[in-house]
Amino acid sequence: MRELEERIRRDGIVEDGDVLKVDGFLNHQMDVELFGAMGREWARLFAGEGVNKILTIEASGIGIACIAAQAFGVPVVFAKKSRTKNIAGDVYRVEVPSFTHGTVSTVIVSRRFLLPGDRLLLIDDFLANGAALEGLIALAGQAGAQIVGAGVAIEKAFQPGGDRIRAKGVRVESLARIKSMSPGQIEFC
Ligand code: G4P
Repeated sequence: MRELEERIRRDGIVEDGDVLKVDGFLNHQMDVELFGAMGREWARLFAGEGVNKILTIEASGIGIACIAAQAFGVPVVFAKKSRTKNIAGDVYRVEVPSFTHGTVSTVIVSRRFLLPGDRLLLIDDFLANGAALEGLIALAGQAGAQIVGAGVAIEKAFQPGGDRIRAKGVRVESLARIKSMSPGQIEFC
């Protein structure tokens, strides 16, 4: 999506260690006009797929998912990261490692909000190693829900996540795919 690519070129900062900083418009300060355009683009791409719910994960996926949900006219469920190991209640749960932060989160969703027969669109801000989306796919599987696809804002295509998720048969629509980057230079696919 040209508008997102231009914004990344203008305001994105490539930091050491393959990290793209986009906190001026995506995951700290948030440009909701841009989110609206992204949501409409996913709605166009997944039109006719019968999406009835959007599933995302804390934290920075939530804002993007909420605005996208307006374009689809469906609710958003976000998977919660929990620090406690002993989670009571009726939840689906999965362990999600973060390669970037070197941590593992237990991620949960109430059984009340993921149902067999749901047609889910997964939404997240970044696709890097794919651990977050794999966690959401696992939660959907536990619920017997169907995954229509995944809408990603920025895919770092030089990292393995995109290939891993597509190899599972999930349609991934990334609005900006970065082929390579280094400080001061970003190349899109
Ligand atoms: P994944 O997102 O594909 O699972 O890959 P990875 O485990 O490497 O990512 C760990 C976290 O780092 C994720 O956020 C992800 O969104 C974020 N991330 C990955 N690459 C970049 C990057 O280049 N720039 C920025 N700004 N973030 C990146 P998280 O810790 O799970 O959650 P949250 O930050 O949304 O709370």
